[in-house]
Order: sequence, then structure tokens, then C-alpha cells
Amino acid sequence: MNATEKLAAVRSQFPVTKRMVYLDSAFQTPLSTNVRTALEEFYAEGHETAGPKSVWLRRVERTREQVARFLNAAPNEIAFTKNTSEGLNIAANAVPLTAGDNVVLIEGDHPNNAYAWLNLKRKGVEVRFARLADTEVATAATFASYIDERTRVVTLSHVTFHAGQVHELGSIGRLCKERGIYFVVDAMQSVGVVPVDVKALGISVLAAGTHKGLLVPQGLGILYVQDGLTELQPAYLAMSSMARPPADYIARPDDMETRHDACRFEFGNVNLPDLHALSAAIELIESVGVPEIQRHVLALGDRLIGRLDRLGVELVGPRERGQRSHIYVLALPVQKWADHFARNQVRVSPERGGIRISFGMFNTVDDVDRLADVIRDGLKEETSNAMAHVD
Ligand SMILES: Cc1ncc(COP(=O)(O)O)c(C=O)c1O
Repeated sequence: MNATEKLAAVRSQFPVTKRMVYLDSAFQTPLSTNVRTALEEFYAEGHETAGPKSVWLRRVERTREQVARFLNAAPNEIAFTKNTSEGLNIAANAVPLTAGDNVVLIEGDHPNNAYAWLNLKRKGVEVRFARLADTEVATAATFASYIDERTRVVTLSHVTFHAGQVHELGSIGRLCKERGIYFVVDAMQSVGVVPVDVKALGISVLAAGTHKGLLVPQGLGILYVQDGLTELQPAYLAMSSMARPPADYIARPDDMETRHDACRFEFGNVNLPDLHALSAAIELIESVGVPEIQRHVLALGDRLIGRLDRLGVELVGPRERGQRSHIYVLALPVQKWADHFARNQVRVSPERGGIRISFGMFNTVDDVDRLADVIRDGLKEETSNAMAHVD
């Protein structure tokens, strides 16, 4: 199968595409048929056999291997969490920080990352916000003037939810390595859509939920913790975090060594149904491949920008190819336009700067054209309403 055939096969996995123009993958992706099947199979096993837990746990390890390959990490560098916020809070509480240390973020980045670090102000940690316009992408230069000898962490989203920038992580990772700073990345919007190579990008900790580009229902997150960062220790402990969990289930106060792999950050049971779903989702994503998905959404973005230019509608975020991927915020007033899209069965999100369009691997050029036609009709309505007022 060539790339076009593979993408067409993927679209058939998302029945929602028959009912509406779904342009809201940055909010959540609709369920694919194969993910639904994986969930149903899990529930059938639980229903009929009360749960073959050892089989399920073996599958969790297989999913861990898939996630590791997906990020160019090793399985011992992957832990499963509940969502992005949990992963980022794990990082914020694991990094050894003392009063007077500082952490640098981007102003206006996702609040779930900001709050994880702002919470450390109670310990005397300073949180600095680097300024960046919505049309710009962050590079090492964005952070350089905010960093000093007490900077311990630089953290940002890979792809922003509010303007769609794809930040240039490579140079930031190199800067952090040179300066001995931990580099923590929120990959919620990028993973599954934009290639993420944690080694090439020099990432220390990466956190993401799985309900957008990874196609799984809410409630599961992935956490990468670079091997060897043993000074990063978990704030929460359970038996599953321990290097030598007691076989008799009696806690040993004299043996508190935690595991050396990323599983020291997992505590208690994990989200087994979603982990089954994640395995199926990664298979579906890999049937096309993330580089091809990125090429596809970028091409949809090119077409969208062309149509918007003709309509005179501006983007809130960047236009250049290297700075965007699948998220485009249109400078259209939300109050006026949200209803118009809903009435026309076009699913989008209100965003702080306008209306957010986000592509998934199942979207097509026809979806973009339909969107553009709906915008054109809305603009015409606006004009004729304005004329009626003048009359
Ligand atoms: C950049 C980013 N981070 C985090 C989240 C969500 O955080 P969580 O997975 O904790 O719900 C979102 C959107 O939902 C996001 O766009």
C-alpha cells in the first residue's frame, strides 16, 4: 500500500468521519474501530474470566516496549501515569530543588505544566516565565536570558495547544545539556503526530496523556525518565516503586531503596483497559508511520492556509512550514463563529485567540475544503447582515 492508500484505510477506522467534519484532534481524538475492539476484548476477558491479571500485566510490558520504541527510548525509561499533569507533577517533585533555585517556563503555556512548578514556590523555588509571541517558536535563544547559575529546569510544550507552534526542542535540549539543566517536555499535543526522539532532543523527562495523538480514551499517560537520573526520586511510593518489594507484603522500613528504572514513579495498579487500547492505537499509528502523519497534516495545513488567504482570514500562530504541524487557530471571534461551525456539523474548539482547527491522521483535503466553504458562507452571512443594517 502507498501512503495515500494507508491513510484511506485509516480513515475507515474512524466512523465519526461519516457524520461530521471532525477537526478537533487537539481536544480529543474519536475512537478508532481497532481501539474500540481492543477495549471490548479486554472487557470480555474481565467479564468472562474475572480477569487474567498475569496475562494483562504481560501485555502492559509489551505496550511499554511499543511506547519506548515510539519515543526512541528504552522500556526501562517508560512509566505509565494517569495523564500529562501527573507526569509533570512527578517531574516537579522528583527534581532535587532547594529554595533559591529557579525553573523557566514559557508565559501562557499550558496551565497544567505551569501549576506543577508554581506549586514549588511554597518551597522557595522561583518560577520564571519567558515571553514569546504566538507567531514565534521557542529556541535556545528564547530561554538564554532567563537562565542563570540557579536554573535547574527548563520546561515547555512541544506543540502548543493555543497557537499550534512546534517549538524547536533540539537547540533547547543542547543548551540544557551544556548548562546541566533538566529539560522537561509536555508532549501531549505532539506525540503521535510529530516525531519525538527523546535522545536526539536531549530530553530528561517527557510527559504526555494519550487521548489526542495516541488515540486512547482519557485516563492514561506516558512518562519518559532518562536512564541514569537516579537523583530523581518519587514523591509517592507504593510496593510497585520499590527495588525489593516484600514477598510477604509487609513493608520493610529498613529497605527503602526504590527501583532504578522509570517504574519507581508508578504506584499501584495502572490503567489496564487503556493500556490494551494504547497497544492497538500504536499499531494503527505505525501502519502509517509518524513521519508520514506529520507530512499529511502539514499538507492539510498548507491547503488550509491557501484557502484562508483567499478568504482573508488570519492565523493566530505561525505560517511557516517548519514551525507548525496540525493545530491552526483562526482569528475569528469565538462568540460569533462557534455556533456557525456546530450548525454545519464541523467540530472545532474555541480557543483564546479564536477558533481552533486541529487535524488527525484521518482528515482529508475534502475536510479542509468543506471547512473553507463553511467559513465562506459564514463570511457572506456576516456581510449580508451588515448590509441589512445599513439598509
Ligand atoms: C499541552 C497540553 N498539556 C496538557 C494537556 C492536558 O493535560 P492532562 O493530560 O493532564 O489532562 C493538554 C490538553 O488537554 C495540552 O494541550
